[in-house]
Amino acid sequence: MQLFLDTTDVAILKDLAASGLVDGVTTNPTLIARSGRPMFDVIAEICELVEGPVSAEVAATDVAGMLAEGAKLAAIAPNVVVKVPLTREGLVATSEFAVQGISTNVTLCFSAAQALLAAKAGASYISPFIGRLDDHGAEGMDLISEIRAIYDNYDFDTEILAASIRSPAHVTAAALCGADCATIPPEVFTALFKHPLTERGLSQFLSDWAATGQSIL
Ligand code: E4P
Repeated sequence: MQLFLDTTDVAILKDLAASGLVDGVTTNPTLIARSGRPMFDVIAEICELVEGPVSAEVAATDVAGMLAEGAKLAAIAPNVVVKVPLTREGLVATSEFAVQGISTNVTLCFSAAQALLAAKAGASYISPFIGRLDDHGAEGMDLISEIRAIYDNYDFDTEILAASIRSPAHVTAAALCGADCATIPPEVFTALFKHPLTERGLSQFLSDWAATGQSIL
């Protein structure tokens, strides 16, 4: 499973990418706004830090606008993935991007039917929003399972990118449901390393080791 970081915070990205475990990055207009920086600067900097896919989202809602913006975003770096909303216009643009060889991440997916259409349009990635579905009273993870089954039934290449992740448990569940990737906020990514029993066990081992008075080096 590929693990992406859902962030526009370059300092945090640098820190976590040093783990060697960050396979890509996703951004969205809210995260760009939160960074307080020009979008093109942020995306270019992220693309220098990460070799894997970096999603940059269009702001236009009409097909021509999405195609023009997508072309500009894709020109930033070869690893840019153009993110488009799951609307009828977004899927028309997705089909055209596929013809042009531009990778796409179709975002704001909340149903398996939407995911089916995105795959038929040739999306490189589909982003089902787990946390927002949970917030809405649904079982977000069911959507991952449904999309997995549909994509496997028809051998679609579109990768399932579990998004709107809120906890390590979401990451585990998405992996169990067969998501190809998950995009994870930095605080959740950091939490993935941790378990209280790991901390307790390490503390015990270190104090027992210190008591031996030995040194390995
Ligand atoms: C995914 O690409 C989105 O940027 C992100 O996962 C949305 O998460 P949120 O629901 O926490 O805003």
